[in-house]
Amino acid sequence: MKLLFINGVNLNLTGKREKGVYGSQTLDEINAEIVKHFKDDECEFYQSNCEGEICSKIQSAECDGIILNAGAFTHYSYAIRDAIAAVSVPVVEVHMSNVHAREEFRHKSVLSEVCKGVILGFGKNSYILAGESFKI
Ligand code: DQA
Repeated sequence: MKLLFINGVNLNLTGKREKGVYGSQTLDEINAEIVKHFKDDECEFYQSNCEGEICSKIQSAECDGIILNAGAFTHYSYAIRDAIAAVSVPVVEVHMSNVHAREEFRHKSVLSEVCKGVILGFGKNSYILAGESFKI
């Protein structure tokens, strides 16, 4: 199975920013654990702080499933929402933190409605749970 993990804005700072919320492991370290977990699958990783680049990546994706943590774009990017709706590859929305236990503005996702499902609140394991969801 080919899985594409997309991380959006500020996720490149994982391990350095708000460690109490997102943990102290870097995105590269988390990705290395994901590769180990999905050892029989092909994993591709992409991170961008630019909304349009994330749209382009979704548009050109050739894989069985996309695991998307769009970061703060989740809460207002109609462009990413439309990109997800435009492709046939299923997308699972992911958050490391439990966004519903945080600030009000994080309670709203404009992406969830066009995603296959949503997994949140399990730290780095949210990515693994989302990847596993494509196998059931
Ligand atoms: C996040 C939650 C978002 O609200 C936030 O803007 C992020 C990370 C998460 O993984 O918990 O950057 O998507």
